[in-house]
Amino acid sequence: MADLRQYDARANELIARMSLDEKLGQMTQPERMHISPEDVRRHHIGSVLSGGGSWPGANVPADWVAMNDAYWEATVANDGDDDGVAIPILYGVDAVHGHNNVRGATLFPHNIGLGAARDPGLIERIARTTAREVLATGVEWTFAPTLAVVRDDHWGRTYESYSEDPEIVAAYAAAFVRGLQGDLGEDGLVACAKHWVGDGGTTGGVDQGETTIPEDELRRFHIAPYLQALSAGVLTVMASYNSWNGEKCHGHEYLLSDVLKGELGFDGFVVSDWDGIDQIDDDYDESVARGVLAGVDMFMVPEKWRDFIGALRAHVESGRVPMERIDDAVRRILRVKLAYRLFDRQRPADRRWSNHESFGGDEHRAVAREAVRKSLVLLKNDDGALPVDRGARILVAGKSAHDRGHQSGGFSLAWQGQSGNDHIEGGTSIWEGIEAIAPGAVLSPDGSAADTGEFDVAILAIGERPYAEGMGDVRTSQFVARGSGLAQNIPGAGKLAPYGATLEHRVSHPEDLATIERVRAAGIPVITVLVSGRPLVVNAELDASTAFVAAWLPGSEGQGVADVLFGDHDFQGRLSFSWPHRDEDLPNRGDDPDVSLFPYGYGLTYR
Ligand code: BGC
Repeated sequence: MADLRQYDARANELIARMSLDEKLGQMTQPERMHISPEDVRRHHIGSVLSGGGSWPGANVPADWVAMNDAYWEATVANDGDDDGVAIPILYGVDAVHGHNNVRGATLFPHNIGLGAARDPGLIERIARTTAREVLATGVEWTFAPTLAVVRDDHWGRTYESYSEDPEIVAAYAAAFVRGLQGDLGEDGLVACAKHWVGDGGTTGGVDQGETTIPEDELRRFHIAPYLQALSAGVLTVMASYNSWNGEKCHGHEYLLSDVLKGELGFDGFVVSDWDGIDQIDDDYDESVARGVLAGVDMFMVPEKWRDFIGALRAHVESGRVPMERIDDAVRRILRVKLAYRLFDRQRPADRRWSNHESFGGDEHRAVAREAVRKSLVLLKNDDGALPVDRGARILVAGKSAHDRGHQSGGFSLAWQGQSGNDHIEGGTSIWEGIEAIAPGAVLSPDGSAADTGEFDVAILAIGERPYAEGMGDVRTSQFVARGSGLAQNIPGAGKLAPYGATLEHRVSHPEDLATIERVRAAGIPVITVLVSGRPLVVNAELDASTAFVAAWLPGSEGQGVADVLFGDHDFQGRLSFSWPHRDEDLPNRGDDPDVSLFPYGYGLTYR
């Protein structure tokens, strides 16, 4: 791990010159919709973020650079007798599968697909490419990688996880951090390992829920990947919404201060999740005190940042929060800003990669296309149905065949993602990829063309529609806590219901089985491509298909799917999640007996 303490002398000098207001400002992270550059200047704000679906102007890189220029200017102009110490702002985004908030960005497969690829070298290249696209917008920090180890696939964030097993997550953690941060020079970003800790272990897979496991299990499954991220020098860690054995992680002094900062020697800073401290206690002031005392250093308080600053100031003035804790938090934030050489960087507009033409370009998309190819898992291939002969008469059907929104999933322009093609600019749908290889193929989303035409084979892309966080949970209780992102992007916001009540696909999406059966009834062998954020119970769909591919959420480059279906590349993906046979089974690697339909590690090839 990089020695961050080497920056303490410089940080301490700055701290000695800072007023309490300046210190509190460094610890505060509002959302861009709720703070102007002028307020950033006046309140000495340390960081601003974009929630899911929050962007400036027309949402092209130049708009982002201009926005960051204005915030940067507001913080470095902060010099002189009246304004206090100039400390450049650190701007944060969720670039979790590419720079997914920005129009025309390259969207990589979500993490679940990357886990199947089993290729840490590829992960490092993806992270480096993502860093380039984020830097093109003048942004310095991404809340990635997610190191969740998901034990129950009912969780709506399963797709953000590389694997149910810590082995792959740990191997990827270091590669991703290295790829993002580089040597912290002009090519690097600040990374953030999240969510500390136990987010993938909640009972029932409930988002922001309760993880009830003994400490050795917490360490073995959920803490283990962080060791790798820390030794790769990850500069920030995000606290998790979940609780561990009844105590919220945001107020968990043992986990945040004793284990992470003490035992594991983490010298960077801990950022809270979106209003994450609110769940510590019913009383907001109490939550603020307990969050900061437990060890949260920077507070993601998107809207109510003024209340937060007021509450924390009162706690310092009353002596409940000692000044040493405030100084420690600010020192940690300054260490990161110094290590990232933020003080030496030019204004965002003048940085090397700002507005760079490589953003969303062919070179970046080629990395994503390779990742798509490597992430596909072949679950069934009867009668050598695959690879498809490009000269065959091919029917393409299914609601996700021509839908770049579906294949990109949540955290794609909108926080919850969105159906359709228009908002994902650039790239190819699965259909467009097939058409590029087999120009005679016919698209018929509902499969109706099967009755009229003559086809040798059908490729059907079916699956889930996009979702994020708690709205992706599969469970019976109706309403979920709000997470991040912009509620105004969600029709019916305020009544955020989970995705469904079962992982059984024919129950939540009967239209998909109907399409498969319609095509099969016409005597055409069906190759099913499942577009989903998790393994689903698909026994009926499997039985009705001659071949079956798990494509996960491939992102913008649907061409990568076609590359493999036509045999230009072989399958390489192997399950990083055990595939369930029934909704009530929660199969995981190493279970005895193993009740999975396809075990961890399963995946066929052409050879
Ligand atoms: C999510 C985080 C994300 C944050 C900022 C939260 O709701 O849990 O993963 O980084 O929002 O958008």
